[in-house]
Amino acid sequence: MSVSDSGSATYSEALEGSNAKRGLWSSRLAFILAATGSAVGLGNIWKFPYITGENGGGAFVLVYLLCIAAVGLPIMMAEVLIGRRGGHSPVNSLRLIAERDRLKPAWRMVGAVGVLAGFLILSFYSVIGGWAVSYVGTAASGQLVGQSAEAVGAIFSNLLGDPMTLLLWHTVFMALVMLVVAKGVRAGLERAVSILMPGLFVLLLIAVGYAMTSGEFGRAVSFLFQPDFSKLSTSGILVALGHAFFTLSLGMAVMMAYGSYLPKNVSIAKTSIAVSVIDTGVALLAGLAIFPIVFANGLEPGAGPGLIFQTLPLAFGQMPMGSLFGTLFFVLLIFAAWTSGISLLEPIVEWLEERKGLNRTASTLGAGVVCWALGIASILSLNLWSDFAPLGSIAMFEGKTIFDLLDFFTANILLPLGGLLVAVFAGWVMSREAVEKELALSGPMFRLWYLTIRYFTPVAVAAVFIYNLM
Ligand code: PFF
Repeated sequence: MSVSDSGSATYSEALEGSNAKRGLWSSRLAFILAATGSAVGLGNIWKFPYITGENGGGAFVLVYLLCIAAVGLPIMMAEVLIGRRGGHSPVNSLRLIAERDRLKPAWRMVGAVGVLAGFLILSFYSVIGGWAVSYVGTAASGQLVGQSAEAVGAIFSNLLGDPMTLLLWHTVFMALVMLVVAKGVRAGLERAVSILMPGLFVLLLIAVGYAMTSGEFGRAVSFLFQPDFSKLSTSGILVALGHAFFTLSLGMAVMMAYGSYLPKNVSIAKTSIAVSVIDTGVALLAGLAIFPIVFANGLEPGAGPGLIFQTLPLAFGQMPMGSLFGTLFFVLLIFAAWTSGISLLEPIVEWLEERKGLNRTASTLGAGVVCWALGIASILSLNLWSDFAPLGSIAMFEGKTIFDLLDFFTANILLPLGGLLVAVFAGWVMSREAVEKELALSGPMFRLWYLTIRYFTPVAVAAVFIYNLM
């Protein structure tokens, strides 16, 4: 599904060529599956529960849901519509639309932000993907059966303390991602998403069912859904906003790339809503599966990035057929992370192909290996360098390891920045007619979206930024 348009095509040449050269998604469902494959990943199951725990629960969840609905969804629609309008890879789409409207091609920056963000995110994403790979073996070998919370915690600490094992699983995960991107066999994966995503959903439901019967479910529900604003800090608001971008794969032009393959007659609003609802549903289910176990076992909700690896294995160790369910769960988690990882690497590879004229294999190898090497810094942050805080002298970054900094800088700065640029592009740079035609919404709905993307979204993102920097 790669596109290699020559960088020098004029708008009309490119537009004429585009429909003949590029296949479109076979249906609305195919797009939803691919976009969901990118959106649903470690962000939903690994990151959402732990940042919710760190930021005090309900109030954070409420702000996160607001960010999804009022910022994330409108920006997803903007990305998809820019992609479909341009009909090319993100960088070329932006350039073409901006050129046609006689505006500066400075919008390449959006592509550049995307490439940089993808690169940095994938480096640590692959390390966490590696944790999931490691837990397949842990669950399958029956090591979790009947274990106490302490023993399950010790299994996790042992993994983090062992750089060579982490490196091994990080390598395996990165190789899986590179393999698919190099071969360009996304079509097969999209079919797989349609089976495996529902599978992940069912296993999460089983975990929630276990949590309902054996954990402190009521306490978890009030923790997640009863807002207590005294527990939410301003930095928590930034984290919620950043996570809305991260979890929906926004701000790095992934949805723009996918939108370029969307048939013209498909509703951008409906498909974007579907993707956002599925993504949010998976995150909330993960929360409902994890927190009852946290409370029932006296664990710490703010335990940090290890939270799901210290709670779910405990549940799998105690439920009937737990080794089987646990193994399946981690396999499906790898798969969810894999499809997201592919969407992180793909834009970099396309960019290298288009800009540097490298072929797909060379681009994938080059980008993948550099990303893998950067991942080693995240691995070391978990053990040998766990006390090393490179920007520790700045109050905001006190105690943050390289891994923490990469996560913070990408999710909370780069992605919202990319999203801000997308909003400004759709709201102010593109012509209103073009935008209106692509979205094909009813009058009032269009006006609501247009006002949001022109004023509310840019102001909200800028305000959260400025407030946090001060
Ligand atoms: N949305 C993915 C997740 O929640 O795990 C992560 C991600 C993928 C972020 C692709 C950004 C992106 F472009």
